Amino acid sequence: MNTLQDKSILITGGGTGIGAGCAAYFAAHGARVTISGRRENRLREVAEAIGPACHWVVGDVTVAQSRQDMLDAAIQHGGGKLDVLVNNAAITHHSGLIGLDEAALVQVLQNNVAAPLMLTQAAVPALEKTHGSVIFIGSVHTRLALSGRLAYAASKGAVQTMSRVLASELGPKKIRVNCVIPGAVATEINAAVTGQDPKEAKAFFYKLAHLHPIGRIGETEDIAQAMEYLINASWTTGAILDVDGGMGLGSTKL
Ligand SMILES: NC(=O)c1ccc[n+]([C@@H]2O[C@H](COP(=O)([O-])OP(=O)(O)OC[C@H]3O[C@@H](n4cnc5c(N)ncnc54)[C@H](OP(=O)(O)O)[C@@H]3O)[C@@H](O)[C@H]2O)c1
Repeated sequence: MNTLQDKSILITGGGTGIGAGCAAYFAAHGARVTISGRRENRLREVAEAIGPACHWVVGDVTVAQSRQDMLDAAIQHGGGKLDVLVNNAAITHHSGLIGLDEAALVQVLQNNVAAPLMLTQAAVPALEKTHGSVIFIGSVHTRLALSGRLAYAASKGAVQTMSRVLASELGPKKIRVNCVIPGAVATEINAAVTGQDPKEAKAFFYKLAHLHPIGRIGETEDIAQAMEYLINASWTTGAILDVDGGMGLGSTKL
């Protein structure tokens, strides 16, 4: 069923992982998708695999001109409109407080908090015309106090808070703002977390099934399905939707 027929959707960080999986899912359900990121080769591969419904634009979300280029490209590819902005691009940093490098902390906050906020600001005029919506990506790190990823956890706490404030601010413009919180999904960002090579990291992540009461880690399609719901849920705004197989429950056996 084409539940996203003719929706114009911009996904930042769409050249890999969850963003790439969502691009394929949205295109298969009728959307015209534009993906962005810094690595042209990754974007090109994903777009070629999806076909003409997917367009790509190289850009860095921390750069104002790049953000405008992403929006312009998405509006053009989407037939002169933008229905949905998915603020998916993010980076992580492997450190707790002891030894935390200030420049790395600022980089994570700029990349994960300031950049999507400013992209959302730039997208408001287009989203107001379509009564569109914005989706942010939070993290299970805000549900579980896991040590060693301090900057990342702080950035995702900010993302979740600001998505609710933006829902309140943009509601009168008929723009909805929601946030999904994925559990573990085997992607590149996790290779950065574990410090392993991507193949080892992927195998490691599949071993994390026991942390999820549902008994498995997530697939990108699990996250895409939740976003599909939020895109169509016309009376849902300010929602923080856990899509994590129950990982955030932190359930333990005493
Ligand atoms: N995988 C998980 O277990 C998990 C769990 C909870 C939340 N998340 C969240 O899910 C989202 C997607 O992550 P993922 O797991 O799919 O990891 P990923 O494969 O590393 O995806 C991150 C994407 O963001 C892009 N990106 C990073 N910085 C950028 C910048 N400055 N400008 C433009 N693009 C940038 C990267 O592309 P370039 O490097 O080419 O720019 C990459 O495509 C993130 O928000 C992440 O925090 C993931």
